[in-house]
Amino acid sequence: MANVVVVGAQWGDEGKGKIVDWLSERADVIARFQGGHNAGHTLVIDGKVFKLNALPSGVVRGGKLSVIGNGVVLDPWHLVKEIDSIRVQGVEITPETLMIAENTPLILPIHGELDRAREEAASKGAKIGTTGRGIGPAYEDKVGRRSVRVADLADDATLVARVDRALLHHDALRRGLGLEPVDRDGLLASLREIAPEILKYAGPVWKVLNEKRRSGKRILFEGAQGALLDIDFGTYPYVTSSNVIAGQAATGTGMGPGAIDFVLGIVKAYTTRVGEGPFPTELHDEDGQRLGERGREFGTVTGRKRRCGWFDAVLVRQTCVTSGVNGISLTKLDVLDGFETIRICTGYELDGAVLDHLPIAAEQQARCTPIYEEMEGWTESTEGARSWNDLPGAAVKYVRRIEELIGCPVALLSTSPEREDTILVTDPFVD
Ligand code: GDP
Ligand code: IMO
Ligand code: MG
Repeated sequence: MANVVVVGAQWGDEGKGKIVDWLSERADVIARFQGGHNAGHTLVIDGKVFKLNALPSGVVRGGKLSVIGNGVVLDPWHLVKEIDSIRVQGVEITPETLMIAENTPLILPIHGELDRAREEAASKGAKIGTTGRGIGPAYEDKVGRRSVRVADLADDATLVARVDRALLHHDALRRGLGLEPVDRDGLLASLREIAPEILKYAGPVWKVLNEKRRSGKRILFEGAQGALLDIDFGTYPYVTSSNVIAGQAATGTGMGPGAIDFVLGIVKAYTTRVGEGPFPTELHDEDGQRLGERGREFGTVTGRKRRCGWFDAVLVRQTCVTSGVNGISLTKLDVLDGFETIRICTGYELDGAVLDHLPIAAEQQARCTPIYEEMEGWTESTEGARSWNDLPGAAVKYVRRIEELIGCPVALLSTSPEREDTILVTDPFVD
């Protein structure tokens, strides 16, 4: 049976949540494998809006197993709040429907404080524009071997030792930033209080997922962020602190690399970015404003206005390679309705040379000038289209040109925020 990985192929907010929710009808298990509650995924089902950060977007379907893998960093207090808030919307989460990997590192309040204090202290060019949710510091502690992990919540002596180990490092850091030392007893008390709320979902995710796979169940791996925010292949240092590309689905859950049968890259029909960093096709004119307004481009997590620009085929061609994308889901095509002409970036000019990829040095990335080709727009509406035949000729041409330039076929097409406004071209689950 096919297992599918969904990854963002730009700078995040491509519409992964909607597509994961739509595809989860065909899946048995939906697993997050990286990132944390820096993700903001919006689903719209019959007009009802669901906003998810840490929970996999499959939870809304009911009757599926949702999984938080070890590659995630988890804020336990946020998770409990998120579970409560979607319960109010009629979605019940139980230990039968949610499993959290025991080896998942926790995000503690000190991580968020450190994240925000660093951003405040940074000079303009040094700011990353993080979500302020402690993602970077939590991953630093994981690699530094001083995380408190889910399993540590089960034994008080271990918990105390893990917290003391972490504080040795953090108190020194905090002194340098002019922050008060950590309230150790307060932190321990809140961890002890939240522990049972998290432990009831804890389990050996690697084992359960491999058993599910062997028994023919279909697993849908849900990526957060986007490949250009990947810690290795993104626009470093303006990136998030995890591997975002598809290979992470295996390490972030404990599956072998052979478990991945199809990689679906989610691609917006134009480009957006939240936070700092290079963005070659960014628009500062009326077209950019129009994309932002029509696409309602405001961050789900921080409410920040997203930067908008034309479709960049160079970047997507590159991320399709680093993630091994088999097919893309093109989203928000409807936002381009009514543009007289549409531009696509096909290469960059840098110091008199033409480049077919984004150079790795941040300084060079910032100086790349896009080379555009222009296409005719369409006046008809594509909003809500549910079949290929409903699309105007010029929109079909635009989609075909994107496929050609990025070297990857369209498997799905999304034409509105609503779950059912989706056109299936190739089913990623059919092997
Ligand atoms: P994610 O982080 O990749 O899950 O994406 P977000 O949820 O942050 O942002 C995507 C936004 O676009 C959400 O508000 C979705 O409801 C919306 N959306 C998704 N697909 C489409 C589409 O095809 N057309 C339009 N107009 N909106 C869409
Ligand atoms: P979803 O899953 C868009 C960006 C932040 C910042 C950088 C680092 O909704 O697509 P972090 O808090 O991760 O240390 O911030 O990464 N960022 C996102 N941008 N969508 C996201 O997630 C993002 N998650 C992080 O804006 O530039
Ligand atoms: Mg988002």
